[in-house]
Amino acid sequence: MSLRDALRIREAEVTDETVYRDRRRLLALMAAAPALGLAGCAEAEPPPPSAARLTPEQARSGFRTDEALTRYEDITTYNNFYEFGTGKSDPSRAAKTLRTSPWTVEVGGECAKPGRIALEDLLRGVVDEARIYRLRCVEGWSMVIPWNGVPLASVLRRFEPTSKAKYVAFTTLADREQMPGLRFRSINWPYREGLRIDEAMHPLAFLATGLYGKPLPQQNGAPLRLVVPWKYGFKSIKSIVEIRFVERMPATAWNQLQPSEYGFFSNVNPAVDHPRWSQKTERRIAGTSNRLIANRIDTLPFNGYADQVAGLYAGMDLRRWY
Ligand code: MTE
Repeated sequence: MSLRDALRIREAEVTDETVYRDRRRLLALMAAAPALGLAGCAEAEPPPPSAARLTPEQARSGFRTDEALTRYEDITTYNNFYEFGTGKSDPSRAAKTLRTSPWTVEVGGECAKPGRIALEDLLRGVVDEARIYRLRCVEGWSMVIPWNGVPLASVLRRFEPTSKAKYVAFTTLADREQMPGLRFRSINWPYREGLRIDEAMHPLAFLATGLYGKPLPQQNGAPLRLVVPWKYGFKSIKSIVEIRFVERMPATAWNQLQPSEYGFFSNVNPAVDHPRWSQKTERRIAGTSNRLIANRIDTLPFNGYADQVAGLYAGMDLRRWY
């Protein structure tokens, strides 16, 4: 019996491993040759936002799933948080030192009430909710996570975005003292992400402050982390310190690093392969005592949230606007 058999790692698992090692290799390559890093988004002109109609029942049907939950210990030890290293288990060790309190968020740009606001004040009066969402990473693994937090729209509305607010840009803390991964100039730190305003205001878009009813651990993006369940996981930016309403499509970390592989929209789409691997299936890390023998299942368009979000993209060619 080979060592691989002995460890009960299936072929699918080996493939995934190759994928994320490949992604790490890309990071290393970019760190070695910063001149290769392309600036800005692949596409400059935004498509017009659509007027998607969604009933409250339709929205609510996306708030939960009966699928088996991923174990707390897997959600908190198998992470991507490159500010704390590129290995899956690095963040659960290295992020322990991230100071999450006090925490302030700067909100600005195209809005009537900009300001620098303490996290408690940002969340004050917004009703805490529980959501069970699928999380699909672009690398081909997925989880089912019970989050606690608040709808993103409830927080954003308080700042009264103007009609010029076509997009929302998010930024992660970048503190070299607390984040050892910042020494490597692979990603153009700070980590940045963005959503079109109608995506940000969608009822499924969520700001997580906890999981499994407990405060969010640092490695999962404490104290405030975006969750956009119909998009690849890299859109779900962690440890947010800045939110800006902007008129033009903002630069985002992975798109800046490799625009031909990571688009601005990055909706989960099994019909569009990553240039270097298939996106047709995923390795579901859930409902098992050993993540190495998790199931491989079919990936669904919009990660299974098409009923709720497909209307946002009516008229858009999703092969072009990936
Ligand atoms: N946010 C920041 N600031 N830095 C990161 O490296 N990784 C992203 C996303 N948010 C990342 C981030 C990626 S690639 C994924 S798949 C998810 O976080 C992983 O979230 P999890 O570790 O809670 O599963």
